[in-house]
Amino acid sequence: MFKLFKRFAGAYRRYFIIGPASKLLEVFFDLLTPLVIARMIDEGVTSRDVPEVVRYGVLLLVMAVVGLCFTLVCQKMAALASQGMGTDIRRELYRSINRLSHAELDRFGTPSLITRITNDVNQVQLAVALGVRQLIRWPFLAIGSMVAALLIDLKLGVIFLISTPLIGIVFWVVMAKCVPYYRQMQQKLDRIALITREGLSGARVIRAFVREEHERERFRAAAYDQAQTAIAVGKLSSVLNPVTFLVMNLGVCAILWAGGIQVNVGDLTQGEVMAFVNYMTQTLLSIVYVANLVVVFTKASASATRVNEVLECEPSVSDEGNAPVDLAPVAAALEQTRADGADASAIPALRMSGACYAFAGSSTNAVDHADITLLPGQTLGVIGGTGSGKSTLVSLIPRLYDTTAGSVDVMGTDVRLWPLRQLRQVVGMVPQKASLVSGTIRSNLCWRDAQASDEELWHALECAQAAEFVRKLPQGLDSPVEAGGKNFSGGQRQRLTIARALVGSPALLILDDSASALDFKTDAALRRAIRTLSHTRSAGLPLTTVIVSQRVSSVRDADIICVMRHGEIVGQGTHDELLATCPIYQEICLSQLKREELGAAGEGGAR
Ligand SMILES: Nc1ncnc2c1ncn2[C@@H]1O[C@H](COP(=O)(O)OP(=O)(O)OP(=O)(O)O)[C@@H](O)[C@H]1O
Ligand SMILES: [Mg+2]
Repeated sequence: MFKLFKRFAGAYRRYFIIGPASKLLEVFFDLLTPLVIARMIDEGVTSRDVPEVVRYGVLLLVMAVVGLCFTLVCQKMAALASQGMGTDIRRELYRSINRLSHAELDRFGTPSLITRITNDVNQVQLAVALGVRQLIRWPFLAIGSMVAALLIDLKLGVIFLISTPLIGIVFWVVMAKCVPYYRQMQQKLDRIALITREGLSGARVIRAFVREEHERERFRAAAYDQAQTAIAVGKLSSVLNPVTFLVMNLGVCAILWAGGIQVNVGDLTQGEVMAFVNYMTQTLLSIVYVANLVVVFTKASASATRVNEVLECEPSVSDEGNAPVDLAPVAAALEQTRADGADASAIPALRMSGACYAFAGSSTNAVDHADITLLPGQTLGVIGGTGSGKSTLVSLIPRLYDTTAGSVDVMGTDVRLWPLRQLRQVVGMVPQKASLVSGTIRSNLCWRDAQASDEELWHALECAQAAEFVRKLPQGLDSPVEAGGKNFSGGQRQRLTIARALVGSPALLILDDSASALDFKTDAALRRAIRTLSHTRSAGLPLTTVIVSQRVSSVRDADIICVMRHGEIVGQGTHDELLATCPIYQEICLSQLKREELGAAGEGGAR
């Protein structure tokens, strides 16, 4: 909490000074009030002096109004400071989250990040607001009341000195037991957020599989679990109020009894006893409020730790100090190759050397020693069963994950030496899960190049086989896209994300199972369009393509096909070579292609 405060409070320093200062003045009037009432009783009420009572009454009213003014100033300062700090923390959190690499995003998990940016920041905000308003008030009021009471009479003060620590001890015991529960509650809230998110985003699938009852039960269990913790805390803290009031009222009884005797003897006036009672209640109530503050601050401290975890998380993928990569030598090497009539350019568009990746907490490599060399303009096909590591392999190219061993070079430069922005400009990726954000088709297409012209956008749409349905929309490129692109079909979404990757002319295009929702004819048309694209780019760098698919038909024309199994590349070559040499590829082909489609090479190898 302190760390967050130190980092974000600077801009609001004046509110943190003016707010508590106004509160102190208000407390000053609060402390004077019992004294004025005592005078009113002693000088006005006991002698039945009505004008004196009215005079003191007016004085009390004026004090109340002035006190109120200071309260309002403090309230405003508290609101400005807490809202301002909350907004700054959220902005910074959002920035930090956007800097994180996939590995850290996996570690935190989306639901937890959402609770951190909403609920946790709220808790911190609440603590800041209460801090400005109450942190000074209650301790000051408690100590001030105690001093004022002791100044009235030392002997009665003994009652004070006994009852105050008594309540203090009760609070300390209860709080010590409650604090661990608050941390648990936050974690359980994370789980509810996770289930809610899954349930809502997967509502259609859940209905289709008639899993509503199961999901409801899962939600109910998580909510019940959280409620149980909250109830446990509630039960513990419910002890506090009765005990406090018991001690407080016993103290008041003792004061009235002992004070009564002193009034009779003439040592004290009635007004002074009343003032004593007032100070006593004020002190003990202050302790109750201080305890409430402790609760709020404990929750906020748990939240602040969670917020700090994100703010302080150093992204494992960083490009600090990386100089821009010059692509001219790649084009020159290619030119030279063509001039020499050689078949392999000196600088490959993509090279993986012993590249490995293991997810955190996993003992096996999701990508295991991948060796691939792909020349500019070539097409790489990646095929393999579900979970064989295809997506993880291609995620290494735009550096969504950093290899745990080995290296990945794009255009002859290790991806770790590229400025990330340039790398991701050069590498256009269509992720497996087509995701669009709310806005318009245009705003979704312009992610890679904000200045892209309409002509460029239409060209990308044409190529991605999306132009036809976009043209039919009444607003064309400016047609609205709802959150997650849910006003488009799965296939339309996929085509739009392909078009998005093509805008801004990438030199390396990755299609991660991007044709899975397209019919065979459209898939073929898409590949044909991409191939023509690669031929028309000969001026600069030709388009190099990586196609991930589970369909043989999507990768069979590729220059190199990698067959993946359990993270390993178990076969590499052209369609014909693999048919002859790779049993797994043969198996995949046999299950998908008609025997006559396998071709001559397959005839020998597949049998
Ligand atoms: N974020 C993650 N955290 C932990 N493990 C993961 C994560 N993503 C994938 N894996 C694991 O890594 C392995 C490879 O996953 P990957 O997504 O690369 O497979 P894939 O070949 O793309 O599968 P599919 O064809 O279904 O898309 C799987 O065993 C999977 O369980
Ligand atoms: Mg995949």
